[in-house]
Amino acid sequence: MRFVIAVLLAVMSVSGSAHAADIKAGEKVFKKCKACHVVDKEKNKTGPHLVGIIGRPAASVESYKKYSKALKESGFVWDAATLDGYLENPKKYLKGGKMAFAGLKKQKDRDNIIAYFESLQ
Ligand code: HEC
Repeated sequence: MRFVIAVLLAVMSVSGSAHAADIKAGEKVFKKCKACHVVDKEKNKTGPHLVGIIGRPAASVESYKKYSKALKESGFVWDAATLDGYLENPKKYLKGGKMAFAGLKKQKDRDNIIAYFESLQ
């Protein structure tokens, strides 16, 4: 019995954390990026499109010609960890980067927008 309860608690905490990030809220956070980024079409604006961003190597959109040298040489692959760092403070995370965005200071905003990107994969 004790084992069953332990398993139930473990399952509950796993599904609990899966719901901690909120995709709908992440879509709202993305409004801050829309001036420069499109995520549902391979269309570049001031910034490169973000289609398939999770798992994408940095600076790999060939139709986007304005990448900074810093991003091209970064060796980043965009996943939850690199996006979290970059979006918190783009200029600090990538010295010499060209993204003119102050950053998402709230952890929750970053978690939610990353969940939103993951939901689009
Ligand atoms: C003022 C315009 C602007 C805003 C606002 C902006 N970005 Fe960017 N973004 C850029 C530019 C320009 C680059 C290219 C940076 C470079 O080459 O150093 C970029 C690059 C990126 C990259 C790397 C893409 C790649 O192909 O490697 C990601 C990821 C990204 N932005 C996400 C976001 C997200 C998420 C937001 C909103 C929270 C955001 N950006 C807001 C202009 C912007």
